[in-house]
Amino acid sequence: MRFAVLVSGRGSNLQALLDAEARGLIAPAEIAVVLSNRPKAPAIARAQHADKPVVVVNHRRHDDRDSFETAMLIALEPYRVEAIVLAGFMRILGEHFVSAFPDRIINTHPSLLPAFPGLNAPAQAVEHGVKVSGCTVHFVDFGVDTGPIIAQVAVPVKDDDDAAALHERIRAREHELLPEVTRLMAAGRIAIRDRRVHVTTSA
Ligand code: GRF
Repeated sequence: MRFAVLVSGRGSNLQALLDAEARGLIAPAEIAVVLSNRPKAPAIARAQHADKPVVVVNHRRHDDRDSFETAMLIALEPYRVEAIVLAGFMRILGEHFVSAFPDRIINTHPSLLPAFPGLNAPAQAVEHGVKVSGCTVHFVDFGVDTGPIIAQVAVPVKDDDDAAALHERIRAREHELLPEVTRLMAAGRIAIRDRRVHVTTSA
């Protein structure tokens, strides 16, 4: 299954996917292309270093979301992409893009959804004072971080954590979970029934 990985920033989750692919750990998933909406995202260099094609579709050059999403779809076309991983992609996707890949877009979010959706989830968790947070890999639907949940890992919140410290601890777990879910998805081991996701881990 040919994936596009969409990024906006640092790209540590992209790196985890690239490393896992290089070690044969995500087959039959294949990273066909990396798309960034930010021309200066550090994630781009990671993709180039791994010899992956990179396309930049700068949202600032588009007046509205539909035009931005059309540009992304056109940019992805040559790569015959079948599925999408959002790995720190900081734009909200609308119906136009999401409908092009039905049940084929996954996202990693740094909280235990449905707690703390949206921006700055680790900061929200620290401010709220929760003792456990974590990460969630979920399908993308038309809402913000509302899609069916595929897998979650809990991460403890320490008393002296600030948002950055908690986010780093969460990231480390995302780096394991996202490649694994990508593999399972490509292997056809993930099924959605209503909004519940069933994952078969054994053959
Ligand atoms: C991750 O924590 C992801 O959950 C969130 O943004 C962060 C991206 O980090 N959506 P990176 O760019 O992969 O390092």
